[in-house]
Amino acid sequence: MAIMAEPITKWTGARARRAGRHFDRAQRRRQDAALFDLLLRDLDGAATVLDAGAGTGYLTLALAPALTTGRVIALELSADMLRQLEQRAAAAGLQQRVVARQAPASASGLADGSVDLIISHSLLHELQDVDATLREFARVLRPGGRMVVVDFRDTWIGRLMMLWHPRGAHGPFSADGLARALEAAGLREVTVRIQGERLLALARR
Ligand SMILES: C[S@@+](CC[C@H](N)C(=O)[O-])C[C@H]1O[C@@H](n2cnc3c(N)ncnc32)[C@H](O)[C@@H]1O
Repeated sequence: MAIMAEPITKWTGARARRAGRHFDRAQRRRQDAALFDLLLRDLDGAATVLDAGAGTGYLTLALAPALTTGRVIALELSADMLRQLEQRAAAAGLQQRVVARQAPASASGLADGSVDLIISHSLLHELQDVDATLREFARVLRPGGRMVVVDFRDTWIGRLMMLWHPRGAHGPFSADGLARALEAAGLREVTVRIQGERLLALARR
């Protein structure tokens, strides 16, 4: 019988408070301008978007204003991170467009095929079981739905960063390794682009 590790996050307490400032810095948003363009370009105002490992709302709060009747489900393991996300959503008047959900990404509790777009920025390298999470993404995505993943590439910087992560975390990815994992989860039209220290993966259900 396979024994699954319990999902864990290091983003709690004082670390979560510091992360709130660090993750949402203006310089990072400038660096990710092309990513925001990509995400917003074809976004339907009625879409259901899943931001997996939403943190303090870096992507959630960028996409929510573009929705009219749709929602961003901000899925997060850490209650401390989610609390900051909810405060920031309220301060921006986006409560109607953002649904905060505390759950592991591998067991979201969302219905089959209920999501139009999944976004995940800097989550996968933290996970104990990436394959289980990608299978969960494939399950909740509707047929034809899109997935956009950004994560660390396997370079010395990516490996160094893992010194600050819990034991058992997956760590950074090779482009081929990430593509294979997405395809093994049943996703199609998989492309993985190298962008400096990061990988940008696109896929469809
Ligand atoms: C590096 S942060 C990135 C946050 C946000 N996506 C961003 O780019 O600013 C990773 C986030 O994933 C969350 N996380 C880690 N493991 C998780 C899991 N198994 N399920 C859901 N969230 C998880 C952490 O609590 C943390 O907030």
